[in-house]
Amino acid sequence: MSAAAQDHPAIIGSHMKNIVILISGGGSNMAAIVKTAQREAWAQRMGAKVAAVISNKADAKGLVVAKEQGVATAVLDHEAFASREAFDAALAGLIDRYDQPDAPVLVVLAGFMRILTPGFVDRYAGRLVNIHPSLLPAFTGMHTHQRALDAGCKFVGVTVHQVTRVLDEGQILAQAVVPVLPTDTADILAARVLTQEHLLYPRVIANLLQKI
Ligand code: GAR
Repeated sequence: MSAAAQDHPAIIGSHMKNIVILISGGGSNMAAIVKTAQREAWAQRMGAKVAAVISNKADAKGLVVAKEQGVATAVLDHEAFASREAFDAALAGLIDRYDQPDAPVLVVLAGFMRILTPGFVDRYAGRLVNIHPSLLPAFTGMHTHQRALDAGCKFVGVTVHQVTRVLDEGQILAQAVVPVLPTDTADILAARVLTQEHLLYPRVIANLLQKI
């Protein structure tokens, strides 16, 4: 466990539904969720809060954003672990600090670029969600926008889905469709899709919070 992880509070004393967001990079989806939670007063209205943001990369820009928003952060460097299983076990240990019998933690993958082990996925079954920048089941995996352009797609989009053992599978919770314009590059398209991600993900999470 990294020093940053050790600094993390061990006990979170509340009956709030805790959301733990996992990131690897910019964290713009995470920021959208945090800001929506504040703007829509999820704590007061739904008894829910973003309790922590955890990154597998110490230099993830999203960590700075989370701190600015007053959210606890932790870093767990996957390169410090000998196996995928060992990393995922340590990650679960961090997340479970926010788990409560009467309010199970919701684990939100927001640009968390790690393939998760079956043990990790099973542990959080039904309360582990991901956002993927394509209209699943099309274009699982990486480089979705370039592949969609190469395939001549006229519409692309974004999917929020439950996470299962199979990469980018699992029940689709919501999708948003984005048109492809003739002048699009992969980067331009990614930016247009991302604006929809920021609208869709907080809405899906708010819905899920009513159910868990
Ligand atoms: C988002 O576009 C998200 O959909 C994608 O990474 C980006 C993260 O951006 N996720 C995946 O590709 C997962 N397979 P963010 O860090 O600014 O939220």
